[in-house]
Amino acid sequence: MIETKPDDKTDGSRDARPVNSYYQRHIFFCLNERKNGEECCAQHRAQAGFDRCKNQVKEAGLAGPGQVRVNKAGCLDRCAAGPVAVVYPEAVWYTYVDHHDIDEIVESHLKNGQVVERLRLPATLGR
Ligand code: FES
Repeated sequence: MIETKPDDKTDGSRDARPVNSYYQRHIFFCLNERKNGEECCAQHRAQAGFDRCKNQVKEAGLAGPGQVRVNKAGCLDRCAAGPVAVVYPEAVWYTYVDHHDIDEIVESHLKNGQVVERLRLPATLGR
């Protein structure tokens, strides 16, 4: 069982960071590209979303140990909903269209711990 830190924020947001977590939050972007024409996140500007997130996290001073890490990932097996990204430790799955969506994920979730409900993937969308 993973221990979590107690709620310690005054704004009501939850700090679900495991006690021994190196990062407070970790976001993975699927950048998978399929050459055979099958649906994949790379067809939906996933690289641009990743680049924007990485840049915004760095500019906001959120990058680094104890804070936020932005990582590339291969196929996360939810291709039909792509492009997709997932934030841990909350295990919240997102899709996004443009820089405004990425900026909102960075500001709301990665910085302040508030899930962006409008960008959340329906649980039923898979491959
Ligand atoms: S190609 Fe992105 S989830 Fe499969």
